[in-house]
Amino acid sequence: MVIPAAGRGVRLGPGAPKALRALNGTPMLVHAVRAMAASRAVSLVVVVAPADGVPEVKHLLDAHALPERTDYRVVAGGDTRQESVRLGLDAVPGDVDVVLVHDAARPLVPVETVDAVVEAVRDGAVAVVPAMPVTDTVKEVEPAGGPGGPEPVVATPVRARLRAVQTPQGFDRATLVDAHATIALAGEGATDDAGMVERLGAPVVVVPGHEEAFKVTRPLDLVLAEAVLARRRA
Ligand code: C5P
Repeated sequence: MVIPAAGRGVRLGPGAPKALRALNGTPMLVHAVRAMAASRAVSLVVVVAPADGVPEVKHLLDAHALPERTDYRVVAGGDTRQESVRLGLDAVPGDVDVVLVHDAARPLVPVETVDAVVEAVRDGAVAVVPAMPVTDTVKEVEPAGGPGGPEPVVATPVRARLRAVQTPQGFDRATLVDAHATIALAGEGATDDAGMVERLGAPVVVVPGHEEAFKVTRPLDLVLAEAVLARRRA
């Protein structure tokens, strides 16, 4: 499994790279690695660290015990999430058939969600995405040039058909490698891995996600994440 953790996390405010920010005293990345290692289906975790942070991340993972059956490697990331995932995939041994990609920024995903994604891939799906129904109505707009300007609405998709996607996303390894190679050649960008598989024309399916698999992006998300951890300990 691959965990891209090389983002700077600018939307979270100033400070360390996002994955290294602490949640209740433990770096977000350590929570994320533990969440993955909690699944018996995960035997190897490849962490993609900021290019200048590989020794620091190695040290961090050495210092926090993982289950003995889980091996981990740390590799240097790239300028975009897509590039970081591709570099992580390069470090997955050739005999691994099922690959998960999980954002370090989703540190609290429950093991049941991880297992459900793996099971769907093992049952034959080539790309599996955990997702939640959306609560807000979503509008597509013509983005304004600068911040704060009015933006004309282009469309209002039917809310009941929309899903907000999470990670870990699960893949048949060959399909994901193919998707990354094809999109990189075309010089295109993507915000999630399943989107790249869609562009290949391969089928992608959604399974139920979990509200605790939310992405820690803004300062308010840190407050929520610490509250979830406190509730788990209570
Ligand atoms: O920026 P975003 O929130 O979409 O990042 C999602 C995940 O991708 C985060 O875990 C982040 O650390 C990672 N990332 C990366 N390399 C980059 C940018 C983001 O590994 N260059």
